[in-house]
Amino acid sequence: TPIPSPDLKTCGRATISDGPLVPYTCCPPPMPTNFDTIPYYKFPSMTKLRIRPPAHAVDEEYIAKYNLAISRMKDLDKTEPLNPLGFKQQANIHCAYCNGAYIIGGKELQVHNSWLFFPFHRWYLYFYERILGKLIDDPTFALPYWNWDHPKGMRLPPMFDREGTSIYDERRNQQVRNGTVMDLGSFGDKVQTTQLQLMSNNLTLMYRQMVTNAPCPLLFFGAPYVLGNNVEAPGTIENIPHIPVHIWAGTVRGSTFPNGDTSYGEDMGNFYSAGLDPVFYCHHGNVDRMWNEWKAIGGKRRDLSEKDWLNSEFFFYDENKKPYRVKVRDCLDAKKMGYDYAPMPTPWRNFKP
Ligand code: C2O
Repeated sequence: TPIPSPDLKTCGRATISDGPLVPYTCCPPPMPTNFDTIPYYKFPSMTKLRIRPPAHAVDEEYIAKYNLAISRMKDLDKTEPLNPLGFKQQANIHCAYCNGAYIIGGKELQVHNSWLFFPFHRWYLYFYERILGKLIDDPTFALPYWNWDHPKGMRLPPMFDREGTSIYDERRNQQVRNGTVMDLGSFGDKVQTTQLQLMSNNLTLMYRQMVTNAPCPLLFFGAPYVLGNNVEAPGTIENIPHIPVHIWAGTVRGSTFPNGDTSYGEDMGNFYSAGLDPVFYCHHGNVDRMWNEWKAIGGKRRDLSEKDWLNSEFFFYDENKKPYRVKVRDCLDAKKMGYDYAPMPTPWRNFKP
């Protein structure tokens, strides 16, 4: 049986992963209607695709627009804390789906480490992008993607490194600043090597995760997750580089913030807080793009055909504050959803070890 959409009525306290048992509340705001009558989402008619640009290559005009949209979202937190389109409410979606706020089939709902990973985040970004567009009155607004699979994108995109702007986050590891090259395979330890070597290691790693280790759907998407049964195994890309990028951008667990608080990896390095860093949605743009790129390699690289996957459901508020249920089967084609990625070369394809 597929995982049904969680019911807001049953939403409870969540807990911070790997922290002490700190109860954290991240349930969505009350719904205007009864949960049982939430309709299935239908794609609105559209005229133009939203084209998501690589984050390292955007111009000042784009940066200004993006910052404006995020700052309007943040303003909602102050003026209307229960507005589901607010910045914190949007970040809380990630917490609610990953930190035990819902019990489904006798277990805490957790969309990571399973085949729900790709579809959940695709839907999440879909609505987030539309909300941002709505806030600045631009129906073609598209999120940027963090092009970490290309040498030009293997560092924090510069626009996120401008202190005082709304897409800057103080709760980031300082080591990610000023153009430091990232190690896509690291879960915390640093290896001494040159930037050039690091980039070439990253490309080899991308080849491994996209090609060698993911010749068939279950290896790429992750283990089946059905009602009452979940083996918890992430797909190749979810595991690496997805997790290392989170860890890299969050502060070190156990370190201390300037205000004296202990870090549990905030923001990017913990499920409950990851969505509080605007770069989260940029990171997931590229994760989502890898889904398309993987299918484009060919062979047996296709979407899963299991009904239990196709019929799994989530719920989200759309840009008009209306709640909808969505199904995995409706998010398999990004273009049908109204967006696409500005193409970038994929040099890792030539990095067969
Ligand atoms: Cu929901 Cu990158 O994690």
